[in-house]
Amino acid sequence: MSKRKILVTSALPYANGPIHLGHLVEYIQTDIWARFQRLRGHTCYYVCADDAHGTPIMLRAQQEGIEPQELIDKSSVEHQADFAGFNIAFDNYHSTHSDENRQFSEAIYLAAKEGGHITQKVIKQSYDPEANMFLPDRFIKGECPKCHTADQYGDNCDHCGATYATTDVINPYSVITGATPIEKDSEHYFFKLNDFDAFLKEWIDSGSVQTEIANKMKEWLEDGLSDWDISRDAPYWGFKIPGTENKYFYVWLDAPIGYLASFKNYCDKNDLNFDEFWKAESTTEVHHFIGKDIAYFHTLFWPAVLKSAGYRLPTAVHCHGFLKVNGLKMSKSRGTFIQARVFLNHLPPEPLRYYYAAKLSNNIDDIDLNLEDFQLRINSDLIGKVINIASRTASFISKRFDGKLSVELPDTALYQQFIDISDSIADAYETRRYSKAMREIMALADQANQYIHENQPWVLIKDDATKDQVQGICTQGVNMFRALMVYLKPVLPELAEKSELFLNAGKLNWDSVATPLLNTEINKFKPLMTRIEKDNIEAMLDENKQVLEALQASQTSNAPTNSPLNSDPISDTINYDDFAKIDLRVVKIIKAEHVKGADKLLQLTLDLGGETRNVFAGIKSAYDPANLEGKMTVMVANLAPRKMRFGISEGMVLAAGPGGENLFVLNPDKGALAGMRVK
Ligand code: 2FM
Ligand code: ZN
Repeated sequence: MSKRKILVTSALPYANGPIHLGHLVEYIQTDIWARFQRLRGHTCYYVCADDAHGTPIMLRAQQEGIEPQELIDKSSVEHQADFAGFNIAFDNYHSTHSDENRQFSEAIYLAAKEGGHITQKVIKQSYDPEANMFLPDRFIKGECPKCHTADQYGDNCDHCGATYATTDVINPYSVITGATPIEKDSEHYFFKLNDFDAFLKEWIDSGSVQTEIANKMKEWLEDGLSDWDISRDAPYWGFKIPGTENKYFYVWLDAPIGYLASFKNYCDKNDLNFDEFWKAESTTEVHHFIGKDIAYFHTLFWPAVLKSAGYRLPTAVHCHGFLKVNGLKMSKSRGTFIQARVFLNHLPPEPLRYYYAAKLSNNIDDIDLNLEDFQLRINSDLIGKVINIASRTASFISKRFDGKLSVELPDTALYQQFIDISDSIADAYETRRYSKAMREIMALADQANQYIHENQPWVLIKDDATKDQVQGICTQGVNMFRALMVYLKPVLPELAEKSELFLNAGKLNWDSVATPLLNTEINKFKPLMTRIEKDNIEAMLDENKQVLEALQASQTSNAPTNSPLNSDPISDTINYDDFAKIDLRVVKIIKAEHVKGADKLLQLTLDLGGETRNVFAGIKSAYDPANLEGKMTVMVANLAPRKMRFGISEGMVLAAGPGGENLFVLNPDKGALAGMRVK
């Protein structure tokens, strides 16, 4: 087998939020792959960095009253501690706000410019006249131009799903100050993506992306490639564009360049040859692991940018799906946005690595973390099957045979099966079909347990005539366990390390399986892992809920006082006739239910004093339906019925608050009766 030289990356996490279990799908997936390559004897470097630029980071620092540098420093320490907690073994962890990244970003931009791939255009953009800054789409909110729901983002409506231009939003306001944005001209710099149309069409078929992604790319290319806006106006937290006074690189321009920067930083510290990995004709490998949501950036922009500056292209961009928790999208209000740190406060990391591995494949399907299934699976597979093999056999070797393994295996044919499957497991790892690898490994564990069960060393040991057979049987057991630990080592490095100490024969590598451990002394077996208890999971979820609540409260209280995070700006006045058009009625909630497939809605049956109405209300984040039944509230009774995916909504109930758990259904004073008109 020829030795490969591989550079591996995971997407760079933003420096303004904690690592959560959704992020970890990717880092665990990548780390397993990198560890597998090393275990096979290849050279494999795994680098990452914090993605430290952009408006959200600038504003978060402002909210916290600190400099962006302080925020990103703090974030880097926290991120690295969380990753280390999950045994993610980066060779280097850097930052996009680094000297290396500034140098590469400038050089790449200048090379693209030199090649004629940069153009300048004056564009109209929304501007906050109070904050004196241009506003990204997500920093403008207002009424949806299609369905007229209030407080929708500047680019799409959460309520009806419409997407639109920020300029079409009705009564728009800046999320930063609440001011009404104005339109302002600004000169921007664009990367001429379409110059790379032919190149990208060819690259799609180079085998560097999965089929699903190649198909998506074909659609994008058929739609035509627009110039990509790579500049942002001051104030902006990022790198200034060379030759300009107040233009900065858009965060997505310098983020992937951070892969180069982190690797360069590593090469400089370790006297390695950066060019060997990045020059155009390089024969080494570069693999990017990313989530499917950022495929556009990595399969169109990134190869084109690299090409424009004369660098090599990625060998592959591997996309994965999202994490769901208990079948649903992770959600702050449901408490399933589980932070890495909180998980580690209650549970060990390796079970999660194994669980993800058992679910991951090489496609872009989402994977589900079902916490009950997680508990059962770990206890059954890792404790009940794998570790059980060692615990049932090692103690006899220690107690009855002075720790010494027999000189040969009693069942070489069985052990040969553990050797024969090596290539198949290796291929599954190599192609990122980890779930297949885990299935094959667990099938071996079943065979090993079956062998021990049939040979019953605990019975044979009691009889002088048979007790000598026990050494061989247990040596067979220990060796089968050892083979499993080799195959699981990329997934469970900590367990593998403890096993190496117990087996007392140095580091395990992929080829160790071919040579069983015979006639040597092993160390006393100590429990390698403990069962997952329901209590730990519940305590973890409780703490996570508290952390999320505290986070939401602090974000709300840190917002500027005139920010809509605290209070919406008062909109323009209306006359009495306008008000009189709204038929507000006191109603009684007679039924409240969850809506299947709806993230935010509850279905309410309202009594208007004789008449009943069906209303879908976006209050699920704040209310348990059971607590709403019997409550009085106020509804807009003459709102035109609206057809929704789940049925027809016949009005709207009134609630106040920024959202999430801070949403309050209005209550009339005691005595008000259903059907009374609000005046
Ligand atoms: O989507 C994200 O979280 C980005 N911070 C990923 C950047 S990956 C790379 F391009 F830097
Ligand atoms: Zn809408």
